[in-house]
Amino acid sequence: MLSERPCPDKFYRDVMMRNILVIAIHFEAPLWTVMANTNDRPFILGLGGTTNPASSTEQALAISLQAAADAGAETELFGSKRLCDLPHYLSDPAGLNDTGRALVESVRRADGILLASPGYHGTISGLVKNAVDYIEETAGDDRVYLDGLPVGLIVTAYGWQATGSTLAAMRSIVHALRGWPTPLGVGINASGGIFRDGVCADDMVNEQLHLVAQQVMRGSHRREFS
Ligand SMILES: Cc1cc2nc3c(=O)[nH]c(=O)nc-3n(C[C@H](O)[C@H](O)[C@H](O)COP(=O)(O)O)c2cc1C
Repeated sequence: MLSERPCPDKFYRDVMMRNILVIAIHFEAPLWTVMANTNDRPFILGLGGTTNPASSTEQALAISLQAAADAGAETELFGSKRLCDLPHYLSDPAGLNDTGRALVESVRRADGILLASPGYHGTISGLVKNAVDYIEETAGDDRVYLDGLPVGLIVTAYGWQATGSTLAAMRSIVHALRGWPTPLGVGINASGGIFRDGVCADDMVNEQLHLVAQQVMRGSHRREFS
């Protein structure tokens, strides 16, 4: 009887959903458990912020970085204060100051990076780009720039247009540095004041900040198999 036979579309959709669930259960959960229980923790560097002491950009970055730490990463936040301590790259003939040297060493150690910038005039801010310019110091390293590193991108702005254009600019920067931007880039319209005391009041934004951290973690893990 015709009515007994499953509609092919529905049948394939059901099979696909079951397979996705099986893959998720078999691979995702054990992967996170294994990573959290080994000493081989990936080191994830969080880089970003603004001159604003209560920077929503830095708060978003800190939430994402915490999600990476919860999943087993060793983390470091290179935030607003230290960004402001960086002279313009190459402006000092005597070389790097302590903050600049620390940044370059952290980039060298990193297994993955979370990079957060506000959208200023439709693109990455000068403060964050200046920090990115310091990555030029790794041009002569065995691992040049961000070669092979997963890089999760976060942008805050006071509207949607600048989130899109700034994310696109940051993806181009990461490509130029041989890094791998994660599939998800988080664009946040922060005009409503959704960040306060390190907490994000918007569940959807929170979820995305966790997701981009997970994608960086997954990418850092895969480096072992490259
Ligand atoms: C110099 C400057 C330029 C800005 N340009 C834009 C812009 O083009 N589009 C936009 O939506 N917001 C713009 N903004 C708002 C910032 O994106 C907003 O202040 C920032 O995301 C807030 O981040 P913070 O809380 O971390 O300081 C600009 C702000 C400044 C100070």
